Amino acid sequence: MKVFLNKRIPQAGIDLLKANNLEIITPQHDILSQHEWLELCKKADIILNVGKNKFDRNFFDNCPNIKAISLFSVGFDQVDIEEATKRKIPVGNTPNVLNRATSDIAFLLMQMVSRKANYNTEKVKSGNWKDFDALEQLGQELYGKTLGIFGLGRIGFEMAQKCKGAFQMNIIYHNRNHNEQAEKELYAKYVSFDELIEQSDVISIHANYTSEQMDLFNQSVFEKMKPNTIFINTARGGFHNETDLFEVLQSNKIWGAGLDVTNPEPMDSKNPLLQLPNVVVLPHIGSATVEARNGMSRIAAENIIAFSRNQPMPNCANPEVYQ
Ligand code: DGY
Repeated sequence: MKVFLNKRIPQAGIDLLKANNLEIITPQHDILSQHEWLELCKKADIILNVGKNKFDRNFFDNCPNIKAISLFSVGFDQVDIEEATKRKIPVGNTPNVLNRATSDIAFLLMQMVSRKANYNTEKVKSGNWKDFDALEQLGQELYGKTLGIFGLGRIGFEMAQKCKGAFQMNIIYHNRNHNEQAEKELYAKYVSFDELIEQSDVISIHANYTSEQMDLFNQSVFEKMKPNTIFINTARGGFHNETDLFEVLQSNKIWGAGLDVTNPEPMDSKNPLLQLPNVVVLPHIGSATVEARNGMSRIAAENIIAFSRNQPMPNCANPEVYQ
């Protein structure tokens, strides 16, 4: 079987594919036009996809040869899952191996924003580190504050665990389902969406993104937050309305924001959010550790190998495809 791998990944997964006699097709260059992308997809049976390529009905119509997709990501929001399932195409993803790395980034952003790290490094770089000033741009401490998790799954759990351990934070969460482990081990309390927004000192998003949730965090939601709220998004940029977020940050209606994801990505370097002292933006590096990326590479390959042996993918975003 032919696997089209569109971008470089750690060697571990490539070695596994080769050891299982899978032929790998790679592009001549990194950034492909839509035409080049489709032409390469048409030559393959399976795609090992790195990045945001869309897999919608149009794609599947154009590439009827594609039998399976293995994503180099835990998120699968760029795939029309219903359409893939209808066509009996399993879609693999890479959960768990990036829980620690991604929750580390949420935790880092929370601390950077609470202590205005961005503002302060800029101050040093621009030569504005002057005399001691007891009142200038003070941070806020996180001890005993309330962390509100939107989407308490595996990554959210690790973020909550870190916040509990480091700062004895109270954990509240809003989810589709109750997370019994978090309730038992972290004394996490399930609350309504409105309660989450109104009671949290830090709000961190860790949910799977679907297009129905676009701009869920908008002006009216931001305005219900407490003035000291730190808003953290390491999930998907589509969750927040950027113009509304800019408005509440600029007018200091909330404390600040830490974003590892934006909409669109990459963010324009002239984006006005980047001028605000209470914002930290990272370039979607949640899973960017050696450990997580090696794990993702291995899992993405294992999904393909299982498929090539007529077995269910061990990590599949649409397991209903096997029913
Ligand atoms: C993921 O795995 O979904 C990360 O966000 C990287 O895209």
